[in-house]
Amino acid sequence: MALVELEGVEKSFPIWERHGRVRRRRRIVRAVDGVSFRIERGTMVGYVGPNGAGKSTTIKMLIGILVPSAGRVSVAGLDPVRRRIDVARRLGVVFGQRSQLWWDLPLQDSFDLLRHIYRVPFGRWRANLDAFVELLDLAPLLATPVRQLSLGQRMRGELTAAMLHDPELLLLDEPTIGLDVVAKARVREFLARVNRERGVTVLLATHDLGDIERLCSRILILDRGRVIYDGELEELKGRYGYERTLIVDLEEPAPPLAVPGARVERVEGPRQWLRFRRDDVSAAELTAAVAERARLLDLAIEEPDVEEIVRRIYVEGMAGEAVTPAT
Ligand SMILES: Nc1ncnc2c1ncn2[C@@H]1O[C@H](COP(=O)(O)OP(=O)(O)O)[C@@H](O)[C@H]1O
Ligand SMILES: [Mg+2]
Repeated sequence: MALVELEGVEKSFPIWERHGRVRRRRRIVRAVDGVSFRIERGTMVGYVGPNGAGKSTTIKMLIGILVPSAGRVSVAGLDPVRRRIDVARRLGVVFGQRSQLWWDLPLQDSFDLLRHIYRVPFGRWRANLDAFVELLDLAPLLATPVRQLSLGQRMRGELTAAMLHDPELLLLDEPTIGLDVVAKARVREFLARVNRERGVTVLLATHDLGDIERLCSRILILDRGRVIYDGELEELKGRYGYERTLIVDLEEPAPPLAVPGARVERVEGPRQWLRFRRDDVSAAELTAAVAERARLLDLAIEEPDVEEIVRRIYVEGMAGEAVTPAT
């Protein structure tokens, strides 16, 4: 049995819209509109989609805090609404924009409280805490009240908090939102490790494709409440011309660089934007080729954003039907 199963899941919200000066009209928003997928144990799946696609709503149904309007949700064979406590013991949750830590207490106190809330045996809790404190370099922060932590520091605390009771499933909702590059990398590395070393199944909801680039082989793309792609990330890149952009800052303005495998999309003074596909050329090769032609001050690589990929899927004529790998 798959650890997570959704079958024809829908969630609608009634909203009231102003209609004229006094009257208000009731309208139904279908946040999730017939979603089905399964997640096997030990896997790491990216749940990707633009803002408003229905990612958070799906996660809230997996936790059991929202009741589906239709369809069936199961986590470890349990109905998350009816068996909310049993399901809670099996999962860890991190919301990038909400904290599960006690704001005014030192970080350590939150970890103590969670031990009691989840009734984690002391030895196991201690071993887990030691491991995560080490892995996430939390020792210097344990005595600090959560409200004094930076966002990146707090997120390391959130990840630890979510893992202390040895969940089988980790649900993350935009865990890297607002983080700088270093803090993002740290979160991603942590997720890769708990998946690899502890076999934790991970569902990572994000609108940042960078999050899943190195982590998830399988991605589900959600758009307006529907899964429009379910398959390998690699296949998606091949199929929809997944292009990256190398942004180079040259020492001085130059004509568009003629580099094999890339085309210059934009030039602004000494800065140039080179689009390339990884099938054609690697970022390292491209950088070397640029450095042969001009003096390079700085560079950055930009991943395509989710909106662009979603748009491409529609442009390719797949709109309305989920794209699944031919396995
Ligand atoms: N409690 C709610 N009441 C009314 N509308 C909601 C509620 N929660 C979410 N929505 C709407 O449902 C849609 C999906 O939201 P959400 O699941 O938060 O998307 P995502 O997490 O992918 O950004 C959005 O249009 C959002 O405005
Ligand atoms: Mg969300």
